[in-house]
Order: sequence, then C-alpha cells, then structure tokens
Amino acid sequence: MIKILLIGSKGQFGIAFRELLINRTKTLPIQIFAPERKELDICNEQACNSIISNLNPDWVVNAAAFTDVDKAEESPDLANLINGIAPIYLANALSKNGGKLIQLSTDFVFDGKKSTPYNTFDKRNPINIYGKTKAKGEIAVEEILHPKGQGTIVRTSWLMSPVRKNFLLTILKLIKDQKKIKVVSDQIGCPTSTFTLSEVVLKIITDTTFNSNKLEPYFHCCDEGQTNWYEIAVKISLLANKMGLFEINSEIIPIKSSEYITIAKRPKYSLLNNNIIKEKLNYKTHKWEFKIKEILNYLLLKKIT
Ligand SMILES: NC(=O)c1ccc[n+]([C@@H]2O[C@H](COP(=O)([O-])OP(=O)(O)OC[C@H]3O[C@@H](n4cnc5c(N)ncnc54)[C@H](OP(=O)(O)O)[C@@H]3O)[C@@H](O)[C@H]2O)c1
Repeated sequence: MIKILLIGSKGQFGIAFRELLINRTKTLPIQIFAPERKELDICNEQACNSIISNLNPDWVVNAAAFTDVDKAEESPDLANLINGIAPIYLANALSKNGGKLIQLSTDFVFDGKKSTPYNTFDKRNPINIYGKTKAKGEIAVEEILHPKGQGTIVRTSWLMSPVRKNFLLTILKLIKDQKKIKVVSDQIGCPTSTFTLSEVVLKIITDTTFNSNKLEPYFHCCDEGQTNWYEIAVKISLLANKMGLFEINSEIIPIKSSEYITIAKRPKYSLLNNNIIKEKLNYKTHKWEFKIKEILNYLLLKKIT
C-alpha cells in the first residue's frame, strides 16, 4: 500500500489531486491522508515532525502555500514562513524518518528575461517576494532531500481549476458582470489545469514506486502551447458562450502590463519547458485550450457557475 500525505488538500490543486486519488483507489493500492490546515499547520515544526513520524508516509505532496502574489509583498514574513521555512521542516522530518517529498513550486522563481522556455536547470532569479520565498522552499528540498533521492520539485505555471480562486474563475465572473474588461497581453506563459498537474504528480509517484525509476530532481509541468492572459480571457469567453454557460456581452480589451499596475512585479516571460514530463514520465500533454474547455465542462456538469 502506498501511503500518501497530501498537504494543502483544500487548495485548488489539493482538491483536484484528492479527487483523482479517490478515483484511482479502485485500481491502485493507495491510501490517502489529507489533513486540512486546521489539522496540520505546516508552520508548526513539531506538528510536521509528529505527523510524519506517526503516519510514516511513503510520499508527502506539499501543495500548501501562500499563493497570493500581491499580498506576499505586504506579508513577507508569513509568506516566507509558509513557502520558505515550512518545507525545511517537512524535508528535515522526512530525512530523519524516510519517505519522499513532492514540493510544488512555480514559474515565478525565474526573472522572465528569457525568450525561450525555461528549463529545469535554468538559474532561479525571482523578482518578487512570492518567487523568493518559493525559491527558498525549493533550496530546502534540493539541499536536504535531493542528495538522498527523497525529494523532487514540480514547478507549474498559471494554475487553473473549477474551484477556489484563479484567473479562469475571475474572468468568468467579470464577463458576466461587466461590459468591458481590460486584460494584460504582454506577459507570456502557459496555463496549467489542476487536472493535468494532478495526473503528473500521481505519475511521478507510481512510476517511482512500481517501475523503480530514479526520482528526477525537477519537473516542469504546464499544458501545451504559448499564450498570454488576454488570449486566455478571449478563449474562456468564446468557449463559455459556445457552451451556453451564460450570456456574454462583455468586450475584452488587450492592455500592456505598464497600464495595469500590481503591487508585485510579474515576469514578462515564464513559459516552462515540459520535456522532462514527456520524456521521463511518458506524459502526453494537451493544448491549453483543450484543458480550459475541460474545466468549463466540469463547471457545466456540476452546475457551479
Ligand atoms: N495558483 C497558481 O497560479 C500557481 C502557479 C504556480 C505554482 N503554484 C503552486 O502550486 C501549489 C498549489 O497552489 P494552489 O493554487 O492549489 O494553492 P491554493 O489554492 O492557494 O491553496 C493553498 C492551500 O495551502 C493551504 N495552506 C496555506 N498555509 C498553510 C499552512 N500554514 N499549513 C497548512 N496548509 C496551509 C491553504 O489553506 P486554506 O484552505 O486554509 O487557505 C490552501 O488550502 C503551490 O505550491 C503554489 O505555489 C500555484
């Protein structure tokens, strides 16, 4: 039986991953432990130690994070504690106890100065507090667990899902309520559906466990293609209209980042190179448009909108 401890189970990735694991329990020998934040606060070192020593998980998936990029600038200490220091607690506990860690991370550890997709080995150079704190969490896994083959970092970008807070849900709300919306068109990257990320994380676990594959130190995971926020908003609107989710009368206008000032700086370019998940995991990626449609279908089926 593979024991998986999922931390951050009420977040957008956590919800999708837990749902996938529950479905797969029919065919895979997996046991899931998914404490909520009130049951496990990863900022409490003692709590991290005791859950890991008592449960003895084969895998810990750390999806808990301080993810509000602008708020991180206002609360750097809390962002640092959750994103930077708590992974040190988890890594130390696993190093003592045994068990592997999958630490989720972000395209925002890069500075955005490249114009070709970021490779797993490219140098980190975060330009905002969120990115800096996530980079610190990565370094903990790199230094404490990588050398023992017990830890990997899965970087993802522009995460979208049918639940919680994300760009897709924000755009759906705006196109329902407003006549004109302005969306930045000069930040380049690619969205990632939480369905994609969940499958990739599970594949890392099953391939390493059943095929005795060596754990890669890093993976980059996003859907296929290259786009910008404006294009994604237009696609969401077109699909929502076509699928009859609701009537849309909103005009979407492209603007430059310089016209949309945010508290935190964002990288201009943060496309991730997906090759490792394709080559090492044999994972077949899908176009981002297809994955957006899948999320809208989910919303339609569950009548969430
Ligand atoms: N969102 C994105 O666009 C994006 C992009 C790239 C990478 N990522 C990375 O992907 C991962 C998953 O992101 P997400 O969007 O699923 O995050 P999310 O929806 O914001 O969820 C984060 C979860 O972490 C929990 N959490 C926060 N502090 C905690 C603590 N001290 N102890 C225990 N749990 C705590 C939150 O609890 P509550 O439910 O109580 O809030 C929430 O359930 C993160 O590592 C993130 O950095 C996200």
